[in-house]
Order: sequence, then C-alpha cells, then structure tokens
Amino acid sequence: MSKLLEMKNITKRFPGVLANDNIDFSLEKGNVHSLLGENGAGKSTLMSVLSGLYKQDEGEIYIKGEKTNFNSPNDAIKNGIGMVYQHFMLIPRLTVIENIILGIKQDNEPFINEKKAAREIQEIADKYGMDIDPYAKVWQLSVGEQQRVEIIKALYRGAEILILDEPTAVLTPQEIVELFNMVEQLLKEDKAIIFISHKIEEVRNISDKITVLREGKKIGTVDATASKEKLAQMMVGREVVFTVDKDTVSLGKEVLKLENVEAQNNKGLKALDKVSFEIHRGEIYGIAGVDGNGQSELIEVIAGLRKADNGSVKFLNEDITNKDPRTILRKGVAHIPEDRQVCGLVMDMDIKENMVMQDYHEAPHCNGSFMDWNYITKHTNDLIDQYNIKAPSEKSEARNLSGGNQQKLILARELHREPELLLAMHPTRGLDVGAIEYVHEKLLEARKEGRAILFVSTELDEIMNISDRMAVIYEGKIMGEVKPEEVTKEEVGLMMAGTKKEELK
Ligand SMILES: Nc1ncnc2c1ncn2[C@@H]1O[C@H](COP(=O)(O)OP(=O)(O)OP(=O)(O)O)[C@@H](O)[C@H]1O
Ligand SMILES: [Mg+2]
Repeated sequence: MSKLLEMKNITKRFPGVLANDNIDFSLEKGNVHSLLGENGAGKSTLMSVLSGLYKQDEGEIYIKGEKTNFNSPNDAIKNGIGMVYQHFMLIPRLTVIENIILGIKQDNEPFINEKKAAREIQEIADKYGMDIDPYAKVWQLSVGEQQRVEIIKALYRGAEILILDEPTAVLTPQEIVELFNMVEQLLKEDKAIIFISHKIEEVRNISDKITVLREGKKIGTVDATASKEKLAQMMVGREVVFTVDKDTVSLGKEVLKLENVEAQNNKGLKALDKVSFEIHRGEIYGIAGVDGNGQSELIEVIAGLRKADNGSVKFLNEDITNKDPRTILRKGVAHIPEDRQVCGLVMDMDIKENMVMQDYHEAPHCNGSFMDWNYITKHTNDLIDQYNIKAPSEKSEARNLSGGNQQKLILARELHREPELLLAMHPTRGLDVGAIEYVHEKLLEARKEGRAILFVSTELDEIMNISDRMAVIYEGKIMGEVKPEEVTKEEVGLMMAGTKKEELK
C-alpha cells in the first residue's frame, strides 16, 4: 500500500546549522505520527519543509506515491497539507473570518462574501466541536482560541494532512481534551496528523508511530508503546530524572504583597477580583489554574503593564501600584513573559542585543556614551554556554532560534539580572525534558539565593512539585492557598474548576 506521505533523505541547512540531516519520515492515512526531540532538534524545520515554507537542500517528498515539488506554502496547501505553526501566523487586528480567507479566492465571488465564509467556518467549527466566533478580532482571543482559528483555516483550505507543531504547549487541560477529540474525528475521516509535543505521555497516548530527532538527525521510529524512559533516552541521549529535588530554604522577609487587587482584561471585563497574597525571599509561590483565569492580568499588573483598578501591590514594602514597567523592573523585578515572541524578545535583533535589552544603558554594558560591544559579546557568550543555548553565534537573530532556545535566552537574561522577584509565566512551556530539568534547577538555585519567585503554570504536576506554597485561581478569584504536600492533585483540580478551599471535603 502506498503511503499517504513519504519524505526521503531530507536535508536542510541554515547558515552555520545543519537543521535536518538526511531524514526519512512517512505517514499513513488515519494515523498520527509524532515527532519528538530536544529544542533545536529540527522538528519545526522538517515540517516547514513539508508545508512549503522552506525549500529542502536535498531529498524528495512524495504524496500518495507521487513526487512533488513545493515552492511555496500554497503548493503544499494544494497538495492537502495544512500546518498550524508553533508561533501562530495570524494578523491580530483582523477578524477570524478575514484571517481564514486571507489570500484565497472564493469560487465565483468577485467580492469577499463574509456571510458565506462565516457560515462555512461555523460549519467546520461545529463539525469538529470547536467553539469560535467568526466575527471576533483575533487580538481579543485567548491563545487556545487563536489556535482553533489556525486549525479551522487549514481545514477550510482542504487539509488532508494536518501538522500540529506543539499545539498543546499553550492549551488548558480541557482544551487539550477538545483538541484530541477533534483529532479522533479527523482520523475517522481518513485524514492524517503529524503531531509535535514535548510532553512524552501525551505523545504516547495520541500517536501510532513516534519518530525521534536529535541534533538534526533521525534517531529512530518506534511504536507508541515505547516507554517514557526509552523515549527520553532517545531524545536526550542520556537518562532524565522526572522529579524535582528540593532543599529546604528558610523564608526571608516579604518581597511582594498584593492586597485586594482588581483589574480588567482586554475585553474590558473583570479579570482579577480582590486578589491578595504575599511572597517571601527564598520562596517559590505557584499560581495554578486553567489558562485564561486571570493569570496573565495578574502578572501584568505586578509588572506595571496593566492598570490595577483597585487594591495595592507592594514590593519590599514600597507601594508600586500602577508604576511604570521600567521603574518596577529597575527596582529588582524580572519577568519571563507568557509570549516570548511578542513581549520577551525582539525577533529581528540578535542574541547579544536581546541579552542586554533590559540594561544596555547601564555599566558594564555601556560607559555612559558608548555601548561596550566587546564586553557584551563576551557576557553573551558566557550565558550562551552556561544556559546551553543552541545557536551558531551571539550574532544569530532571535527569530532563527528554535522555540525552546528562545525561551532559554529569556531565562538567561532575566535570571542573570539577579532580581529580588522573578515573575515566571510558563517558564518551561515548549521546553524539552532535559531543558525543563535545567530550568527547574535554575529556579531552585535562585530560590536558594533568596529570590522570590512567582511561578505561573497550568501543569499541575510541575507546579505541585516546585512550589513551596500555591494559590489556585479561578475566574480571577483565589479559590484558596495551599501547601502542595497537604493536598491531593484531585483537590487542586477541583479548585481549578471553581471549588473554594473551604468547600473541599
Ligand atoms: N530560519 C532559520 N534560520 C537559521 N537557523 C534556523 C532557522 N530556523 C531554524 N534554525 C535552526 O535550525 C535548528 C532546528 O530548529 P527547529 O526550529 O527545527 O527546532 P525544533 O526541533 O522545532 O525545536 P523546538 O522544540 O525548540 O521548537 C536550530 O538550531 C535553529 O536555530
Ligand atoms: Mg519547533
């Protein structure tokens, strides 16, 4: 039987990087074939070759046994290939409809027929159980909703092979269930999925086959029954520990105190409702919750990026409510933002420029008038080594780093500033197992040095492992504050769904 897709001997080079080295990959109808591999292993590149975004240097692609030649994403779409990129490609100020029909002509329609498009979009959404408002502007949507738009866009264009590049990294547990239901539905229709994720368990659950890449090479293809340990070993080339080892650290003075903080979200609705808690030196304070329950707004209010309507934020006993972000930063607050491509990095700048973005105007980076590029270059290379950032040099543009390496770059920059308070929003999102282990070590090190860390994550296991105390947030309200060792996962799950701590049995 001929395969739906065969990629043979694919090689793709970038200046100074062999991103894909002679890789074979195939896919059958009705199957899920996943790609696993460390950050920078070459997964997105291989898929971008398949989606026509990049042209391979060597190798061939066969669709249903026929050799194809893609010169653009449109060629790939014509061949039934749709890709949902790791970093979405939507235009925020346009509506869902406009984004979906952008660049394609409607049959026999001289003008864009919005109503017709809206109807068709709604049909696809209903069929696959996705909830979306076609008339909403993309910037108003949550990340999960934006992803739905990307998926609908691919299906609207007739995708038979749907490539999902780390779709679950940005989804809530509930949204992941919905995504997987949609995948089941697509498979029943004999479509096929290529799935990329760093979450090994989820990959094992959803896949028929798994291919592991490491440093641009294919390590092997195995059945989804392969053990978690074996897959991790294939990915990283060594054994990986999956648990966090914490020393006890005695609590120091209070670093951050929130009292009855209230704020609105982008849609003008109440996002934070009388939020109060405090964090001390040497403490990791977790905020657990399903994404979109006020976590982003909470971090933004503390960082001065969003106005608090009520209540107060105190940093080392000083009122910093509604101070501007730069002032807050300079007092000793560091921030690992939720969206590394929008707020974390300037994608057109290179690594060294990004590394000193927060303090380029101060010594030792600058002598008052001139930037000291020699110092900055050395400093950046030290951090590249220390944080194991995979890049050809300090002059590589941030946009050319793999997703995980972009995240490491932000982490290096923010931790190196030795902040009193670190606001860490999904700091391990999109990282491979080895890198997650590393970030956890770094955060524990920072905790040991007496820093206060506000750790926001939707991964229950992770947050319960790493936090000293944690609060569960639901619809902008704190449902309760707990110590991880004093509650069960189920109890936290209930609180995430809106049960107050006092109501737990
Ligand atoms: N446009 C580009 N220009 C130069 N180098 C690139 C470009 N895109 C990717 N690379 C490099 O190619 C290698 C593979 O990157 P790729 O994005 O495919 O990794 P990945 O496996 O998807 O990693 P992650 O899990 O972090 O997303 C990396 O070293 C990356 O820096
Ligand atoms: Mg990638």
